Amino acid sequence: MSQNSVNQPTIDLSQTPAPNMVRVTFEPEHRTVEFEYGTLPYDHHGKPMSLLDVAENYNIFLDHACGGVCACTTCHLYIKAGADGLSQAEDDEMDRTDLAPGVQLNSRLGCQAVITRPGTYVVEIPKWNRNYVQEGKPLTASEIAAKEALAVADRTLESK
Ligand code: FES
Repeated sequence: MSQNSVNQPTIDLSQTPAPNMVRVTFEPEHRTVEFEYGTLPYDHHGKPMSLLDVAENYNIFLDHACGGVCACTTCHLYIKAGADGLSQAEDDEMDRTDLAPGVQLNSRLGCQAVITRPGTYVVEIPKWNRNYVQEGKPLTASEIAAKEALAVADRTLESK
């Protein structure tokens, strides 16, 4: 467990973050972290101050099969708020993102999307990414659907 997750104070979500603070919420778990802009130690995963770097600092699971070098799509995120405060996607990120399952207009790669200013950010980890196993290639849509169907069947059996 990182030092940050131990020291994370309670966050009053009814208030906007104080000036110079960064607040990031990871959905669907609704885990929110907050820190002063420019103080996050680099955790050596993805670009410094990337959303993957934030997740790693606070022990929030965001898969990153390639180690954060824009060579997979396992860190795929949907940006639900704060897109204007993120770095612009470069060509290599856009080319890679196009290969991600479930790509949307608000898709970014967590290892490449860098927080450039204080503010509020909300990101969603696609549900298939939470149990994603990279075996040298991205899962196809049918493989993802099969995996999700198995998970539903498992939950159904467990509830009986
Ligand atoms: Fe592989 Fe982001 S971790 S592209």
